[in-house]
Amino acid sequence: MFRRLGWPVLYSLAVLLPSCLLFLKKEPKPPRGPTARQLFWAPAGPRRSQCPPNHTVANASLSLPSRHRLFLTYRHCRNFSVLLEPSGCAKDTFLLLAIKSQPGHVERRAAIRSTWGRAGDWARGRQLKLVFLLGVAGPVPPAQLLAYESREFDDILQWDFAEDFFNLTLKELHLQRWVAAACPQVHFMLKGDDDVFVHVSNVLEFLDGWDPAQDLLVGDVIHQALPNRNTKVKYFIPPSMYRARHYPPYAGGGGYVMSRATVQRLQAAVEEAELFPIDDVFVGMCLRKLGVSPMHHAGFKTFGIRQPLDPLDPCLYKGLLLVHRLSPLEMWTMWALVTDEGLKCASGPLS
Ligand SMILES: *[C@@H]1O[C@H](CO)[C@@H](O)[C@H](O)[C@H]1NC(C)=O
Ligand SMILES: *[C@@H]1O[C@H](CO)[C@@H](O)[C@H](O)[C@H]1NC(C)=O
Ligand SMILES: *[C@@H]1O[C@H](CO)[C@@H](O)[C@H](O)[C@H]1NC(C)=O
Ligand SMILES: *[C@@H]1O[C@H](CO)[C@@H](O)[C@H](O)[C@H]1NC(C)=O
Repeated sequence: MFRRLGWPVLYSLAVLLPSCLLFLKKEPKPPRGPTARQLFWAPAGPRRSQCPPNHTVANASLSLPSRHRLFLTYRHCRNFSVLLEPSGCAKDTFLLLAIKSQPGHVERRAAIRSTWGRAGDWARGRQLKLVFLLGVAGPVPPAQLLAYESREFDDILQWDFAEDFFNLTLKELHLQRWVAAACPQVHFMLKGDDDVFVHVSNVLEFLDGWDPAQDLLVGDVIHQALPNRNTKVKYFIPPSMYRARHYPPYAGGGGYVMSRATVQRLQAAVEEAELFPIDDVFVGMCLRKLGVSPMHHAGFKTFGIRQPLDPLDPCLYKGLLLVHRLSPLEMWTMWALVTDEGLKCASGPLS
């Protein structure tokens, strides 16, 4: 997408970026209470979770790709301890921004913190809480960097399981437990990837019409999706793992918003459900059990902005809630465009 943004944007970025670095410095934060570090649900015992593989399952799934076998062999392991944890939500937190990240995505987190994840006028007076959800990856970046980010920004929530596409469902499960313990009163929660741009003020405007006590899950909803049966594809699911013809309706995992009522009901459903490797489909399965229909909103662009829309058209942003798959540079560009007060949306219908 950036290729289509052109030179005027690049030029303004060159001017903009140095000043952005100033924002990286954090505002003072309230001191943490002595209980902030308490692990709410982690089982007692050694820090590293001891969960033995199920060899019966491993032997029975020899014909599957190794990743699927690994998933099935450890599917019963559902209790991992917290390694890093931010302070909980304030009483009046309106929107929790829960963003799936990975230890190495330092630049993506920096871009989000300094652009749409910042509070300020953009938040229309509402309390936001930004949290990044992490597993454990290799030695890079060193644990010291994450510990630094955690101290400095108070937004790292890291668990002791391996960072893997098939472990995203573990992130969902552990996020639900954390929200129940540390953010129970939050009105709404947005869950998304660390390469999305969230138009926070549009999201808040949309949510003005909704009661957090009512069920709501809104996003880019996919109906009648077929499980992928091609072993070479990342999303491959063999019939032995999902037999039905279609997946239940689900919101694309790039980003969606839930009300407190739905978050609370999902918590129970997620605990009871057997884990499924694709996290957004897994949430769809839980919603179906709860009888909640996810709602589609065209403002969630989880597959990016498609031609022939012009990404430089300021009118585009008026109805936009979330755009997926942006680099940090594109994130900054989008931020510069949506916050440029000189850029007026011409009246007239959106093409
Ligand atoms: C391993 O998985 C099999 C098949 O799902 C199950 O019957 C068995 O109880 C499991 N064993 C353990 C130790 O969890
Ligand atoms: C799994 O297969 C291995 C190697 O064939 C065998 O040694 C082991 O006993 C099997 N385990 C179970 C639980 O079936
Ligand atoms: C996880 O913890 C729960 C609650 O403490 C417990 O009931 C469950 O058996 C544990 N599961 C595993 C696989 O350790
Ligand atoms: C998920 O994380 C657990 C704990 O680190 C690990 O044993 C398992 O292999 C991971 N699963 C996948 C599919 O990588």
